Amino acid sequence: MRNGWDDPQAAGDYLARRHSWADYIEGPAVRSVLPDLSGMRVLDLGTGGGEWALWCAESGAESVEAVDRSPAMLAHAPVHPRIRWIQADMQTVQYPDACFDCVVSGLAFHYVEDYPGLMMRIARWLKPGGCLVFTVEHPLKYANTQGTWLTDEDGNTLAWPIDCYLDTGPRVEERNGLTWTKWHRTIGGYVEGVLLSGLKLTALLEPGASEEGWRVQRAIAEGNRRRPNVLVVRADKPHPRMG
Ligand SMILES: C[S@@+](CC[C@H](N)C(=O)[O-])C[C@H]1O[C@@H](n2cnc3c(N)ncnc32)[C@H](O)[C@@H]1O
Repeated sequence: MRNGWDDPQAAGDYLARRHSWADYIEGPAVRSVLPDLSGMRVLDLGTGGGEWALWCAESGAESVEAVDRSPAMLAHAPVHPRIRWIQADMQTVQYPDACFDCVVSGLAFHYVEDYPGLMMRIARWLKPGGCLVFTVEHPLKYANTQGTWLTDEDGNTLAWPIDCYLDTGPRVEERNGLTWTKWHRTIGGYVEGVLLSGLKLTALLEPGASEEGWRVQRAIAEGNRRRPNVLVVRADKPHPRMG
């Protein structure tokens, strides 16, 4: 079966839906931990339609290197003089040491099998004093393979089932003849990858919806309150010790 991200219809559907939660849950939390990007060299991994890359460029980044494996997603990326769109796999793409001030990634690292290896490479690509800010789907959301709420016989929502949380590994979603393979890891696993790479964990957020989100996307805000959608991580590369 084909990778869902390579399908133009599925890519378009995702990008049309993403505002409903990204603007009210993920976005405000990410902006609260991002540094001032003025003059920075930024790398965006798994850029998709390029929303974050565009936001970084518009926030003053000197240049943004925006990487995604899927041509169907990159087809939505806008032309911008300070963004370079690269079709590549983030697991094999190569950069020199210490060449980025900031690495960002939105909801993409859970598609990568070798997360510790990726973190080691990102730690090398960052300049001392630089930082990584990424989000992933919350591990409580995709630990189980059902992907739906438990309901009673009248259709009322009872709970989100958590199962096999400690069984890390692939979780395959199939829809309309397409597959999406996510690699489940625990919150501890995400933290461990940061620490083993030598980066310093400086933020770990499980955001609720913003006030505006509660007004305009109440059902999504309520679902997120009961079972968080997203984990937000910031990690910084320390300066080498002097003397
Ligand atoms: C959920 S979308 C997120 C897109 C965008 N960052 C956003 O916030 O809307 C996940 C993206 O990760 C990309 N992706 C998944 N695995 C990848 C890999 N190994 N290398 C590069 N991109 C990858 C997919 O093609 C897809 O565009």
